[in-house]
Amino acid sequence: MTDLSARTVAFYGVGAMGSALLAALVGGDHPADQVVAVDAHPPALDRLREAYAVRTTSDLAEAARAADVHVVAVKPGDVPGLLATLAEHLGGDDLVVSVAAGVTSQALEEALPDDVAVVRVMPNTPALVGQGMAVVSPGSRCSEEQLELAQRVLAPSGQVLALPEKHLDAVTGVSGSGPAYAFYLAEAMTEGGVLQGLPREVAATLAAQTLLGAATMLVEGEDSPSVLRERVSSPGGTTMAALAELDERAVRAAVVAAVRRATERSAELGRAR
Ligand SMILES: NC(=O)c1ccc[n+]([C@@H]2O[C@H](COP(=O)([O-])OP(=O)(O)OC[C@H]3O[C@@H](n4cnc5c(N)ncnc54)[C@H](OP(=O)(O)O)[C@@H]3O)[C@@H](O)[C@H]2O)c1
Repeated sequence: MTDLSARTVAFYGVGAMGSALLAALVGGDHPADQVVAVDAHPPALDRLREAYAVRTTSDLAEAARAADVHVVAVKPGDVPGLLATLAEHLGGDDLVVSVAAGVTSQALEEALPDDVAVVRVMPNTPALVGQGMAVVSPGSRCSEEQLELAQRVLAPSGQVLALPEKHLDAVTGVSGSGPAYAFYLAEAMTEGGVLQGLPREVAATLAAQTLLGAATMLVEGEDSPSVLRERVSSPGGTTMAALAELDERAVRAAVVAAVRRATERSAELGRAR
């Protein structure tokens, strides 16, 4: 079951997220003729067929019959309609992997035949550049092998972790919404540089490359953020002066509160669906 190379993967919805996951999967050596793209927009399908030589169709039933792994990547509001059609064609060994925000595995399972396993995923936008952070949560009838299969579908687009579904709202607060926090910091650093006389483009480059470098040190090294921060903060120096200003303005507390609000909002939106 865990041998993905023998499986056909269908992507239902190839907008921003679906096409990013598809492109990474094909780039990660999954055979293009074992990937099916399905979308309501023919131009999106034409683009993917030309770029990656994958199979394309706007016929849900045809894709459902052809595939073993079914990646649901339509907007959350479109999920019930999509599953109502898929339910007529899925069964047995089929695995449904949903990236739709706020749609619980219970809701997915209720909309599908009893023998179809589901995995719910919270991805993030850096999947578009192969640096995503995805967390997968197994539904109630998902086996270890099926969870591993879902992880293999997502692995080419970045890092993948498995966690129980009760953590997905907090995951949304940290990594789902997190890219926006990093963009916000990049905007603020750029603004600061411009105010100190740097040309805007230069300040933007300095900010972006600094975030990339710092993130690479975090991901590739063994040291915690605190250790890395202390190492660049010499007593009485420039970095200490800047960090004292951030503490004075309670920026750390603001970020902690922002993650809490995003987590709460994710739970609210999930209840509303
Ligand atoms: N983008 C992100 O950063 C991100 C992060 C985490 C999770 N997600 C999740 O990823 C999912 C997709 O988001 P997105 O930003 O990629 O959305 P998107 O760009 O709107 O892409 C969805 C695509 O699916 C098509 N579609 C809708 N219903 C369909 C159906 N029944 N059959 C075939 N195609 C259908 C849509 O066509 P129409 O435009 O005609 O409806 C659209 O082209 C969402 O559920 C979202 O919660 C996204």
